[in-house]
Amino acid sequence: MTRLVLAGTSDARLLLERMDTTDVIASLAGATRAPADLPCETRIGGFGGADGFRDYLQKAGITAVIDATHPFAAQMTHTAATVCQSLDIPHMILQRPEWVAGETDDWRFVERIDDIPNIIPQGATVFLGTGRQTLDQFSCLKGRHLLARVIDEPTKPFPHKDGSFLVGTPPFSIAEEVALFKERGIEWLVVKNAGGEKSKSKLDAAAQLGLPVVMINRPKLPDATVLGTVDEALHWVQAL
Ligand SMILES: NC(=O)c1ccc[n+]([C@@H]2O[C@H](COP(=O)([O-])OP(=O)(O)OC[C@H]3O[C@@H](n4cnc5c(N)ncnc54)[C@H](OP(=O)(O)O)[C@@H]3O)[C@@H](O)[C@H]2O)c1
Repeated sequence: MTRLVLAGTSDARLLLERMDTTDVIASLAGATRAPADLPCETRIGGFGGADGFRDYLQKAGITAVIDATHPFAAQMTHTAATVCQSLDIPHMILQRPEWVAGETDDWRFVERIDDIPNIIPQGATVFLGTGRQTLDQFSCLKGRHLLARVIDEPTKPFPHKDGSFLVGTPPFSIAEEVALFKERGIEWLVVKNAGGEKSKSKLDAAAQLGLPVVMINRPKLPDATVLGTVDEALHWVQAL
């Protein structure tokens, strides 16, 4: 009985740390250059779409799939759900609850990055907390000053005319985020609704400073078992 955990999030790591990882394989997309070791056998890189994923599951003798990828890793999540359903392999999505705006938050919700220019005015200084992978898509924010925080040291120049990288490894405290936003004259934040306590500090800092946030809504989930906490996921795994 070999279980596959699609990883790449702190919840995936927490789950693996609490699971009996005999006969568990973790899988990472390979987006982070030097990912921290996981407590089990780990493979890295895409499977080659739905056909590649199906072949992999069959060759590796996978008997259950736990999808603990990022809430915005929609392609992997849909592939895993569809293929597991077709092969009748038990499958579950571990996805932490999304952030919900409080009374002091000023959030504007969008479905797509292309909707953001309708909201953020020309000339504004914008903090992008959206990661490196989708940075190219922010060409639609021409005429704004962009500051994009990334984890790995960039290997390429900033992809847009008016912008720069800020390299940093989370978590950051609210005080650190407040200091950063003040120092860089940030007027707007753009954030994906990833959820989770650790990376919420930027939203708390924005609320303290009265800064507006453009919140990119999560992509829709496939029709599957979805659990919101590591505890629930652990019970699911133990009941297999
Ligand atoms: N996935 C993560 O760990 C992660 C972490 C942080 C943030 N994000 C956010 O999610 C957005 C999309 O990320 P993404 O490109 O990883 O997701 P995606 O768009 O769903 O995945 C693209 C392709 O990457 C491969 N892949 C993704 N997760 C994998 C895994 N755990 N193991 C093996 N292969 C995997 C798959 O390739 P094949 O089709 O070839 O199988 C998948 O089709 C990013 O822009 C970022 O904002 C994702």
